[in-house]
Amino acid sequence: MREMFITIEGIDGCGKSTQALILKEKIAIHCGVGVVLTGEPGGTTVGSIVREVLLNKDMDNVTEFLLFAADRNEHIKSLIRPSINNGIIVISDRFLDSSVAYQGFGRGVSFDFINYVHSFITQGLKPDLTFIVDVEPEVGLRRLKKTDRIENGGLEFLRRVREGYIELSKRDRRFVVIKGEMDLDIVSDEIWENFLIRRKEWIESQKD
Ligand SMILES: Nc1ncnc2c1ncn2[C@@H]1O[C@H](COP(=O)(O)OP(=O)(O)OP(=O)(O)O)[C@@H](O)[C@H]1O
Ligand SMILES: [Mg+2]
Repeated sequence: MREMFITIEGIDGCGKSTQALILKEKIAIHCGVGVVLTGEPGGTTVGSIVREVLLNKDMDNVTEFLLFAADRNEHIKSLIRPSINNGIIVISDRFLDSSVAYQGFGRGVSFDFINYVHSFITQGLKPDLTFIVDVEPEVGLRRLKKTDRIENGGLEFLRRVREGYIELSKRDRRFVVIKGEMDLDIVSDEIWENFLIRRKEWIESQKD
């Protein structure tokens, strides 16, 4: 049976990686199914090379998007799709919505172009559930000890990205927006509660 594909999104330092790991551990303990935690950029061998370039070299905005898309294509084909098709839940720390938020809303790359490229690489795959961990850009940046090239884009840039995520969240029911500024246990409880609700719905939908 195909399994669920879950993504965690949000601006830099919002707590994605922390929450993704907690969610993975809870699923492993409570759900009796295999679960893998992966992330973008860099979830595959090719992806980790692309990640180095993306995080360290200045480049044109479209080049940046295409490199993320190349990484994503590899990620889908070599890891995400084979895993969910083999009955393993996949949690990805960032996915498609990161490009719409950062390169689209943040940098002004054409949404039509982004969606067009995504439609080729996903072949219809989209997350079954996406958590957006929402924090003020100031809070996210304060939490980060060391920033990379994209995180150095500045507060105005991160504000556009954050607003982009909120805009996206209104377009599809797969999104759950979580307030990320509270204590991390409170944030993880909220994610877990929502996961259980969506998990139940998803299992029901598979019976149809
Ligand atoms: N709710 C929270 N309250 C306080 N600190 C937190 C909270 N969640 C995460 N942190 C801390 O903030 C820092 C950034 O968290 P994390 O690495 O999970 O964010 P991220 O969204 O994955 O960042 P990036 O976009 O850089 O990958 C870490 O040091 C983490 O321990
Ligand atoms: Mg992270």
